[in-house]
Amino acid sequence: MNNFIQHALYWYWNLVLTLFFTLIFRYVLRSKLTEDTNTFPTPKGLKYYPLLGHSLTFLGDTEYIFNTLLQVASNNNHPVRVQILHKTYYTVMHPHHMEVVLNSPKCLEKDALYKYTIPLIGYGLFNMPVGIWRVHRKHIMPTFNQKILDSFVDIFAEQSNLLAQILERKVGIYFDVEEYVAKCTLECVAQTAMGVTTNIQTSDCEIVEYVNKGMDLLTLRMYNVVHRSDLIFHLSKHGKQEEKVISGFYNFIQQIFKEKRELYREMLKQKHGEANIEEVSKRKAFLEYLMELSESEGKFTEDEIINEVQTFMIAGSDTSGTVVGFVLLCLGIYPEIQKKVYEEVFDILGRDRSLKSDDLPHLKYLEKVVKETMRLFPIGPFILRQVSEDLPLANKVLPKGSGVVLCIYSLHRSPEYYKDPLEFKPERFNPEESSKRHPYAYLAFSGGPRNCAGPKFGIMLVKTIVATLIRKYHVETTYKRHEDIRMKQSLLLKTVLGYPVKLIPRDN
Ligand code: HEM
Repeated sequence: MNNFIQHALYWYWNLVLTLFFTLIFRYVLRSKLTEDTNTFPTPKGLKYYPLLGHSLTFLGDTEYIFNTLLQVASNNNHPVRVQILHKTYYTVMHPHHMEVVLNSPKCLEKDALYKYTIPLIGYGLFNMPVGIWRVHRKHIMPTFNQKILDSFVDIFAEQSNLLAQILERKVGIYFDVEEYVAKCTLECVAQTAMGVTTNIQTSDCEIVEYVNKGMDLLTLRMYNVVHRSDLIFHLSKHGKQEEKVISGFYNFIQQIFKEKRELYREMLKQKHGEANIEEVSKRKAFLEYLMELSESEGKFTEDEIINEVQTFMIAGSDTSGTVVGFVLLCLGIYPEIQKKVYEEVFDILGRDRSLKSDDLPHLKYLEKVVKETMRLFPIGPFILRQVSEDLPLANKVLPKGSGVVLCIYSLHRSPEYYKDPLEFKPERFNPEESSKRHPYAYLAFSGGPRNCAGPKFGIMLVKTIVATLIRKYHVETTYKRHEDIRMKQSLLLKTVLGYPVKLIPRDN
């Protein structure tokens, strides 16, 4: 027994010392980086500890993490330096600096912390290294051209009408609209980009909870160093929760993939196989095209396709659904703006005609409302990139190996670029107003070559859902001011207390 304890103690101290020296070694190795960067200031009021840097200021939940990021970014028109363990991050907020970073080939790589997004979001466009990303992006982008997007609008409208109908049972009471909207956007992405029907709006499945929980957990791992170690995380309560939500979501993705593969093979058989591959290639949806590339040219492996399905299901639906949630809250807070949206929608669609793709460009005021909502509530509030080569910026240099935090939330609320920034004014997006702004002062879809892959898809989907709901219901919310909405960093910007609304049927 004594022998056993001695042995255990020996290995315990060995492990502790190895960890200690590894940390010191990594710290010393990176110290050159720190020296080089001393010229950029550190943010005021943020505690710094030797070896740990500013890491301890991020120890908290996702609301706390969001508020800390906000504190780091506040009023910093020039980069500041934050040290998380051995790694240095620079905040960027000035539109010109945003333009330089987002367009530089030296900053196309996603930050290493995005590896924690892979279990939920998949190893797809969003987080893959630049080499493979270029090839995937080149193949994928044409599957979202305007003609294809226009052909999706009937599905958006059908699913929005179904949502409006499902919400009839909630009329007159306050409830959280998030799950209903999220299921609608999931179904829209499934039926259009994937070409598969899941009937999720009318089912009781827990996919939305899985995605929400998964997003919270991956954000904790990214920012809160306590959750970084794989070993400790997987043994913890959070690790068990992650296992459950990931496997639940992954099963859903597998079902979509398998169903589409069956449909695709069936279609090929009906069209007599090989001879019709060329004809198939003229067809639309994203998933079908990837399958065709895989079968005819061996370009995408099955695993790569499944990962992209995972990425697009979340990148396409959780984003658009969250934006719809924020738009409904804003319309509830500003009834006079809601009235103008309603009048425009009624003018164009009348009492009960279903929305068509031709209608969307005419819903101009609604589009400004959506853009103004995304200014105040950009769903990518803080985006991280990796600096792969020294990058000159603001008369200094962001050194190779450091990270950049693009502070889009703070930029969108800066009085330097938006007069009375906290006021909700859709008119800011009148063409003459927009043209006066720096093009990188508005980054709801990010910018540069690695921007969002579906901005038009997103806007069209959000407009269709909001127009359909507003024509049928007057929306109220418990919030009196948008400043009262508590927010969290859950990879995306989300509210802490959901999206409480009350729907009152219109007697039009
Ligand atoms: C209103 C809705 C949406 C908003 C506000 C939004 C916003 C964003 C933002 C801020 C990024 C991060 C870009 C960066 O890291 O610099 C992003 C990336 C991405 N988005 Fe969207 N998005 C929306 C809808 C969509 C839709 C509908 C799709 C697909 C159907 C989509 C697919 C993607 C993909 C694949 C990426 C990763 C792009 C890459 O790294 O190449 N998004 N989006």
